[in-house]
Amino acid sequence: MILLVDDDPSVTESLSLLLKQRGLASCTAANPEEALARLADSPVDLVLQDMNFSRDTSGREGLELLEEIARLRPELPVILITAWGSIGLAVEGMKRGARDFVTKPWNNDHLLQAIETALQLAGDPPAEEAHVAREELDRRYELGKLIGQDPRFLSVIALAGRVSGTNASVLIGGESGTGKELVAEAIHRNSPRKDGPFVKVNLGGVSSTLFESEMFGHVRGAFTDARSDRRGRFDVADGGTIFLDEIGELDAGSQVKLLRVLQDRTFEVLGSSSTKSVDVRVVSATNRDLAAEVAAGNFREDLLYRLNLISIRLPALRERPSDIPLLANHFCREFGEHYGRGPLQLDADAVAWLCAEPWPGNVRQLRQTIERAVLVLEGDRLRAADLKLLSELEARPEEPSLPAAGEMTLDQMEKAMIEKCLGHYGSNVSRVAEALGLSRAALYRRFQKYGIDPER
Ligand SMILES: Nc1ncnc2c1ncn2[C@@H]1O[C@H](COP(=O)(O)OP(=O)(O)OP(=O)(O)O)[C@@H](O)[C@H]1O
Ligand SMILES: [Mg+2]
Repeated sequence: MILLVDDDPSVTESLSLLLKQRGLASCTAANPEEALARLADSPVDLVLQDMNFSRDTSGREGLELLEEIARLRPELPVILITAWGSIGLAVEGMKRGARDFVTKPWNNDHLLQAIETALQLAGDPPAEEAHVAREELDRRYELGKLIGQDPRFLSVIALAGRVSGTNASVLIGGESGTGKELVAEAIHRNSPRKDGPFVKVNLGGVSSTLFESEMFGHVRGAFTDARSDRRGRFDVADGGTIFLDEIGELDAGSQVKLLRVLQDRTFEVLGSSSTKSVDVRVVSATNRDLAAEVAAGNFREDLLYRLNLISIRLPALRERPSDIPLLANHFCREFGEHYGRGPLQLDADAVAWLCAEPWPGNVRQLRQTIERAVLVLEGDRLRAADLKLLSELEARPEEPSLPAAGEMTLDQMEKAMIEKCLGHYGSNVSRVAEALGLSRAALYRRFQKYGIDPER
């Protein structure tokens, strides 16, 4: 049963009707005292509560009620309803244990989804999930190319699998090359939306001027360069999942615009006055520490709470060294086949050498190392000596010489230097940007300009 707490009877009436149509029973309370009485006498599974119950509009009463509920029934999910203008209050509530928040006026479908998601996630994860075996996870989920059996990695996969069936927004953290995108794809593949679109947007490559037209679309003539209608990414993702990659790179203006659409899944197409509504599940990823970015004033706290209903952090490869042999053998097979070689054997001393490396570029760097070794290797064995030689060749400082005049344009040199750094840093974009003295956004613009795929 769902407890609706709001002093406006028209609100509780329309909410209980909406829930009834969805087969959900509800009871109502007009103020905090009544709410606590209902909690004591009814089997409440979730609370949907307003923040103000008198002329005091500070939200203090709402926060107090929330704290009291959290004290009495810590496991009970509470969803807050706040006015758009007082979203800071919702953030306060999230810190004090609210599970989610919606803003008034609400979008019915989105509100129902939030309720159903909170109910699905409410049961505590089974205790054994902490050390569930790889075989069990393979039985439950379709994990595809996600290799690994380190307990830390498996608990990440178990969490991703468990939330994949819900509509909860998921924020995936972890260093560059740890597999964030693979996990995002796995969440979509194991969700009821799997037959819908999976739309990936790299926000590091979207400039603030183009953000709206890219995400929400535009109609012909909306601005000078808009020669035809264009569907936005949210529109394309309708019925599926949108993957917001590099979310930590968004500038302040774009953060507000994104918050708006995440609030109720509606947006306006640039140049048209009509509002569009979409059904989209949001998964995002970043290699930044967003909590630290919030503390530094670079990232909106309300947006963070909108994105991280569930947050997943992928371990760095050095935190799960026991997976290195497994991954290395997997990549040997993959590239052995890809380059038309017979089965390739990874020697024991090669495995030991790989296990001792620090891998700042994580799984991606390991994969690229094996690929290069497979490319230059003769015979069907990969030995530690080969790997050592390769890494020494790469690390050797070259004479800083310039090509002869007339041989290369600046653009060509720029492209070559970017590619060289990508190879050197195992496609770790942050490190490449730093080495080239560029911001990540500026580096992404150059990837676009030169058609460089940073992952290859
Ligand atoms: N567990 C894994 N099993 C197999 N391959 C993996 C695994 N994790 C990562 N990879 C491979 O490593 C490469 C990088 O993975 P991915 O693109 O998902 O990383 P990322 O965390 O999104 O990195 P970035 O922050 O740089 O975008 C890909 O080629 C991917 O296939
Ligand atoms: Mg990625």
